[in-house]
Amino acid sequence: MKGNEMYIVLLLVIKIVVATDLDCGVVPLSQWGSTPLNNPVNLSKPVHIVVIQHTVTGQCFADESCVKLLNNVRKQHVDMLEFSDIGNSFYIGSNGKVYEGSGWHVGAHSKGLNSKSIGLSFIGDFREESPTEQALQAAKDFLDCSVKNHNLSDDYDLVGHGQVASTISPGAKLQSLIETWPHWRQNISM
Ligand SMILES: *[C@@H]1O[C@H](CO)[C@@H](O)[C@H](O)[C@H]1NC(C)=O
Ligand SMILES: *[C@@H]1O[C@H](CO)[C@@H](O)[C@H](O)[C@H]1NC(C)=O
Repeated sequence: MKGNEMYIVLLLVIKIVVATDLDCGVVPLSQWGSTPLNNPVNLSKPVHIVVIQHTVTGQCFADESCVKLLNNVRKQHVDMLEFSDIGNSFYIGSNGKVYEGSGWHVGAHSKGLNSKSIGLSFIGDFREESPTEQALQAAKDFLDCSVKNHNLSDDYDLVGHGQVASTISPGAKLQSLIETWPHWRQNISM
């Protein structure tokens, strides 16, 4: 390889490494959805509130089944709930992957808080079951990484959906787990 070719290869490698780091390993919507996000409105950063939810669907343990399920969720949000696009900001599969939903844009997940929070939804039904260890770890890693990238405030407040709306989401089992996380709050500071 000539010197300038090597230089270009090196630049590409650096670019890929930086890109991977910036997005915290999140599977982008462009990789699993058939169309880009409809009507994206940026959230103002850093975001201060994280709302934990569950999808009340089956769990998914492989990329293929997670993608299929997410496309169904998206279709349901648009066709039945008449949201402009998929409601939650990010979704977590039992395979330990984080999938971008509306991402760092205003979503439709927590009435009254959509423009100042992200909704992090665990794929599954966690009233009586716990998410997998991989899913729980993926959520924690994603939140830590998002603080490092300044998308999330370092003193963010984390709550369960049922604390800010009349719902039992994210399910009693998952709620009891998140109450042990360092950023969990009884009440959000507004
Ligand atoms: C932070 O937000 C930007 C878009 O506003 C996005 O490109 C980047 O991947 C985000 N970082 C994380 C950690 O998700
Ligand atoms: C939204 O955020 C992206 C990425 O951070 C930025 O490139 C874009 O200019 C922003 N759009 C608006 C309307 O501020």
